[in-house]
Amino acid sequence: MKAFIIDRYGKKEVGRIGEVPAPEVRDDNVLIQIHAASVNPLDTKIKSGEFKLILPYQFPLVLGNDVAGTVVRVGARVRDFKPGDEVYARPDDDRIGTFAELIAVKASSLALKPKNLSMVEAAALPLVALTAWQVLVETAKLKKGQKVFIQAGSGGVGTIAIQLAKYLGTFVATTTSTANIDWAKALGADVVIDYKKQDFATELRDYDVVLNCLGNDELKKSLQILKPGGHLISISGPPTPTFAASRGLAWSLKQVLRLLSSGIRKQAEKHGKQYTFVFMRADGAQLREITSLVESGVIRPVVDTVFPFPDTHKALAYVDSGRAKGKVVVQVI
Ligand SMILES: NC(=O)c1ccc[n+]([C@@H]2O[C@H](COP(=O)([O-])OP(=O)(O)OC[C@H]3O[C@@H](n4cnc5c(N)ncnc54)[C@H](OP(=O)(O)O)[C@@H]3O)[C@@H](O)[C@H]2O)c1
Repeated sequence: MKAFIIDRYGKKEVGRIGEVPAPEVRDDNVLIQIHAASVNPLDTKIKSGEFKLILPYQFPLVLGNDVAGTVVRVGARVRDFKPGDEVYARPDDDRIGTFAELIAVKASSLALKPKNLSMVEAAALPLVALTAWQVLVETAKLKKGQKVFIQAGSGGVGTIAIQLAKYLGTFVATTTSTANIDWAKALGADVVIDYKKQDFATELRDYDVVLNCLGNDELKKSLQILKPGGHLISISGPPTPTFAASRGLAWSLKQVLRLLSSGIRKQAEKHGKQYTFVFMRADGAQLREITSLVESGVIRPVVDTVFPFPDTHKALAYVDSGRAKGKVVVQVI
């Protein structure tokens, strides 16, 4: 089958379309003909080698962490899906590769595609929507009336997190650049801060939860705007020893993460606040919950640009620019 592959790690590695064997379909797997796959910053981070200690892959590596497509065949133990079903997923992180014609995904990580979405729209959702769910519902356990600050409201995660947080009945603040202010308000945010002109640390106070997806400066400032007992949840690092333990990482790597996160963990503890690093995971059951929110009109995907499959490298470069408004999708069919 045709796939977009890299042959080595490296920031300058562009990737290429090449021929690779069709994926092995295990007993609990569903083979999907890929219609569309969205791009995430994770793809460029994997490409550059940033994740090689946490996610050790082999080459040639097919990139891609989000898929929408049609079921071709199911493994012997699969009961919930059949050929012809339209599905979507964030595949498990040890079996990625959605910039391709086919992928085998664990049935437990898959859900039926929302009926009101095209394949392109559906492909834009799984990884970012599961991230938003795992941060806001599973980790923060947001309650009606609470205040949440979601950084980068115009990004892939931010656009969905704002909609989910509003559905949960919370007061939502976010940041974006000047051009996107009205647009972020239209997504439902109550307060939109123009990060080019304002500093969120002086504008916001007494928040219950922050979703951090930016750098170290924003991470530190996020602690200041939390009320005592507030929860800082970061998806852009630094990872913690708890995360290392949950993934069974080597002792030495756990010590490195302990060191990397000690500053923010100590600061949080000193001020009676909580710090958690979340690394999202595939989850078909949560994706089904997201499907019902999409079908009832609560959440809608935001697609910035669609690239044809031969231009996958351009799609990755665009996401790498950090300027995407919502999601970038590669159309395979
Ligand atoms: N741990 C996990 O499980 C997990 C899961 C998903 C994502 N992530 C990470 O979370 C980060 C965000 O992911 P994403 O998919 O949302 O990225 P993205 O879609 O590429 O984010 C692009 C957006 O970020 C905005 N932005 C850039 N700098 C900003 C700033 N200083 N303040 C406010 N907004 C800013 C840009 O808006 P403007 O053009 O207006 O500047 C743009 O709309 C990435 O680092 C990604 O790797 C982690």
